[in-house]
Amino acid sequence: MRYLKILFVAFALILSAPASLAQNMQLRAGSSERILNGNEIDGVVRKAEWTMSLRLDGRHNCGASFISPKIESGKVTGWSSEASEPKWAVSAAHCMFDPWTGAPYEISRLSVYSGALDIQNGPSNGEGDVQEVRAFYVPDGTLGTPSYDPITLENDIALLRLADAKTVDGSKRGSIRLPTIADVNWIYDPYTALHTAGWGRTSEGGIGSPTLLEVRIPMVDHDTCAEKYAPFGDEIYPGMICAGYRSGEFDSCQGDSGGPLYYRPTPLTQLTSKSVLVGIVSWGRGCGGADLFGVYTRIVHYQDWMTAVIQAN
Ligand code: ARG
Repeated sequence: MRYLKILFVAFALILSAPASLAQNMQLRAGSSERILNGNEIDGVVRKAEWTMSLRLDGRHNCGASFISPKIESGKVTGWSSEASEPKWAVSAAHCMFDPWTGAPYEISRLSVYSGALDIQNGPSNGEGDVQEVRAFYVPDGTLGTPSYDPITLENDIALLRLADAKTVDGSKRGSIRLPTIADVNWIYDPYTALHTAGWGRTSEGGIGSPTLLEVRIPMVDHDTCAEKYAPFGDEIYPGMICAGYRSGEFDSCQGDSGGPLYYRPTPLTQLTSKSVLVGIVSWGRGCGGADLFGVYTRIVHYQDWMTAVIQAN
């Protein structure tokens, strides 16, 4: 979505990248053509049932995740990991604006498709469900959070209020919880093993994946990431985090924006019992390049804003 930057990267790669970079990436990536080396989600929606496709005019445009506030007497007191019919989603602010005109999309053009792994054949096979988007909210300078900046992509987060799904199938859709204060003590530390998932491009400049792909990447230390992006004039703000390997290769890409960066407990690293939403796919220079980590919106930075928006709506 950072078109200028993407163009610039293309130039930078053509003009200045050592010829071995592309070769190297190909060699190391082996024959896999998956989203920068992701895996299919095993045919089980249940593994990432909070992940959905945010559609523009009925076509996949971005990713998004279901969230579900726990509300007691009008106050948000926490975030549920098991809402089966969630009414809120979180995505990237840049997914809500026409990149050419900068105007927000008309709400009637937006919907979400969830509960299916295959966004191409799922709908005709009667899988999954479409929900209309009733309203969306991006940081606009109120509620204690500065505005979303389409140039720097600072504050790249959007909250979507959804209409009911037509079918009720609690086994296919579910919410992911946001970090608690206790999680924040470890979840944003460098090297935490995270996952990101989406239907985005499977190679830089390539095409999107019809099936949901997932890739595992480590959290990157903020200063390391900032240092790598500084030569491009890109700032890594406190509301941004980076994830990926120094060698690149495994990454999110165009079309994954708005989708989740999450921690999923495994039998070996069960630091919490339920998956936790850690970030939102936001931007990067190219995809999968060495030292060009994927940049994600740091969820915990926006949790008060999210609470305030939900309480007000
Ligand atoms: N901005 C992209 C989108 O709109 C996401 C890019 C993520 N890039 C990356 N290298 N991780 O889909």
